[in-house]
Amino acid sequence: MADSTTLDVPAAVREKYGAIAKSIGSLRQASRGSSGQADASCRAGGCCGGGGDADPISSHLYPETQTRDLPPEAVAVSLGCGNPTALLPLEAGQTVLDLGSGGGIDVLLSARRVGPTGKVYGLDMTDEMLALARENQRKAGVTNVEFLKGTIEAIPLPDNSVDVVISNCVINLSTDKDAVFREAFRVLRPGGRFAVSDVIVRGEVPADVRRNMELWVGCIAGALKDTEYTSKLASAGFTDIELDPWRVYHLDDARAFLTDSGLDVDALAPQVEGRFASAFIRARKPAAVACCGPQCCA
Ligand SMILES: C[S@@+](CC[C@H](N)C(=O)[O-])C[C@H]1O[C@@H](n2cnc3c(N)ncnc32)[C@H](O)[C@@H]1O
Repeated sequence: MADSTTLDVPAAVREKYGAIAKSIGSLRQASRGSSGQADASCRAGGCCGGGGDADPISSHLYPETQTRDLPPEAVAVSLGCGNPTALLPLEAGQTVLDLGSGGGIDVLLSARRVGPTGKVYGLDMTDEMLALARENQRKAGVTNVEFLKGTIEAIPLPDNSVDVVISNCVINLSTDKDAVFREAFRVLRPGGRFAVSDVIVRGEVPADVRRNMELWVGCIAGALKDTEYTSKLASAGFTDIELDPWRVYHLDDARAFLTDSGLDVDALAPQVEGRFASAFIRARKPAAVACCGPQCCA
């Protein structure tokens, strides 16, 4: 069984999500516009939750009223664990950045809300996902969007250039979460908002689960404890931090995500029951202090 402490996690993540994006691309060629693509997306071998209606993590995240005008491929390759676009009101003219934008579902939803005077960046490190996202953008006919290649640990945008950072089930995949939070803080304008959906851990989980590569690339093993999440955000400078676990994974869910891990499902599922959850996490970069003279601004 692959061990995430000795193998190259970013390479494994890129390989996994590249394969998922390619499987959606091949399916599109095989049957343009047909349904059932979510299942195909995860036949490539596990993703955040594994996909499909029975997937405990990625299923039933968006109301149909929100997604019905999007290209089916953008909806099919939704691999998140929440709906970050529902976390706060986006305003016309704002600049939004989606960390780990995948097939682009949250970018396209945000683009509608910030309107033609706003801009939404999607950032992803996987070429195949970027190609799929750009194709989805083209199909959606959206022009106020740009997909950037890069990592969430070194965001290719200037300081103080973004109003809202969103992300959907990606930060758990990073091996350097401190860098991700520092970078999100850097690119946000003073007063800017951080509003993400992610898997978190409540309490301790067995070391075998933490080390398992399949579970890392499946958004489980790399998840931060709730207390670490908030303390790391605070260390990066964020304030007004809120963490709201909204979908807690119980025994059957634990069995589902442990199934392809190569671990002893019967032994481990009861030990992780209720420990993993999808959470909404919100925080703010403090507003700039008004300058009132040479002394207070020194
Ligand atoms: C679980 S999928 C989520 C995709 C999308 N947010 C969604 O909700 O459908 C993770 C995505 O994040 C990207 N990713 C993972 N780690 C990354 C990193 N360190 N930097 C940039 N992209 C990353 C992967 O390539 C993949 O497209």
